Amino acid sequence: MNHSRTRAAATALATALTTLALLAGGCTTALSGVRGTPGAAGLRDPYFPKLGNGGYDVRHYALTLAYDPRTGKLDGTAEITARAGQDLSAFNLDLAGLTVGRASVDGEPAAVNRAGNELTLRPREEIREGAEFRTTVTYEGVPEAVTDADGTREGWLRTDDGAVAVGQPVGSMTWFPGNHHPSDKAGYEITLTVPAGLEAVSNGVRTARRTAPDGRVTTVWKAPEPMASYLATVAIGRYRTDTATALGSVPVLTAADPAVAANSAALLDEIPKILDRQTRRFGPYPFTAAGAVVTEDGTLGYALETQTRPVFPASSFDRTILVHELAHQWFGNSVTPATWRDLWLNEGFATYAEWLYAEEFGHVPARTSFARAFAKDINWTFPPADPPAAENLFDPPVYQRGAMVLHKLRETVGDEVFGEILRGWPAKYRHANASTADFTSYVEAVAGRDLDGLWDVWLYGDGKPDRP
Ligand code: TRP
Ligand code: ZN
Repeated sequence: MNHSRTRAAATALATALTTLALLAGGCTTALSGVRGTPGAAGLRDPYFPKLGNGGYDVRHYALTLAYDPRTGKLDGTAEITARAGQDLSAFNLDLAGLTVGRASVDGEPAAVNRAGNELTLRPREEIREGAEFRTTVTYEGVPEAVTDADGTREGWLRTDDGAVAVGQPVGSMTWFPGNHHPSDKAGYEITLTVPAGLEAVSNGVRTARRTAPDGRVTTVWKAPEPMASYLATVAIGRYRTDTATALGSVPVLTAADPAVAANSAALLDEIPKILDRQTRRFGPYPFTAAGAVVTEDGTLGYALETQTRPVFPASSFDRTILVHELAHQWFGNSVTPATWRDLWLNEGFATYAEWLYAEEFGHVPARTSFARAFAKDINWTFPPADPPAAENLFDPPVYQRGAMVLHKLRETVGDEVFGEILRGWPAKYRHANASTADFTSYVEAVAGRDLDGLWDVWLYGDGKPDRP
């Protein structure tokens, strides 16, 4: 409260009312404790309003994790480097479950408060707008999986011999505190310690591997390019790993559960060839590493495009799905949705990449894939750009109808301009975020004309379009 201002006001008879108002304001402030300028507790995503946090932008996560598959216990330290976008008296991280030990900001202890999935840290001194600050949080506990609105499971998933962590759309908060909205991308370094005899795999390049006297194995994974937290992954188990090179210089590291390794080896070997083909279609591969993880069935119900190293349950490991997840490295991982409402930009393109692959290698023209999809009795009730609720995010309108939008675009602008868009879109938003509006205005600029008719029917129109 500002005393000199209050006193000055009190001397003036005419401003007595103002004084009262000031005093009342001061009292409210003191009682509720909302002094200062805390960062927002959420970023108001249309489906997950509390996901992510306002007031800062994470630059880098350094996660140091030790896992014991017998007990399921995870011991973690998260070191988060961020830049303040405003003065911050307090700020939030998203974290589900687990127990927080110590927290500090720039080496000084910070006060910790938890409510739901919001972890609030109050540093001793207010962080100044524009400042870069380092937050360290230690935590431990048995991470719990999340069951999403559509019934699928994500987060930290236990397996017989380890765990697989996947985070689309919200599960990464089950294994590390962070700004878990896709709009805040950051570089990562993940250090994993697991019992003797097990392998641990994560995103990016493995830069170190050491065995402690007690037999535990520590590996360090560097993923320096911007990554949305939902694309962070960890796989721990008796994996067989293999290495290769793609695109002349990109290291490829694959890991397969021993029960499925023999059957997946031939397809894993195709990764360099597929990336080569996709690079010619979509432009330069956006990352410094590549690979895949194939798990035993029974843990994960779907494949996921985790950055540089997508994960597949064995029964979802076929060429079409591999092509789909590798295409996501451009569409989704490098160009990331601004909000979860823009997910069709990931899934429409990844599905269209399947159609392109079938056109080139399976002699099935994309127009045939389009016609087959159009004839299907899928859910036509909502359009790609506006899923009604979180439980609809992964429904066919986002995938198949998303790809149909792209095919209609191709028919409208012709193969040449469409080819330009397939390369130009990931180039323009490389390592950034983009919305549906960014897409339509980019496309109209390249095409040199207004395409409202197309968007109205295929992208935004409810119900099945009258004609294919
Ligand atoms: N986005 C993943 C892919 O297309 C699949 C996926 C993730 C999914 N979560 C899901 C599919 C939930 C259905 C339900 O590669
Ligand atoms: Zn996909």
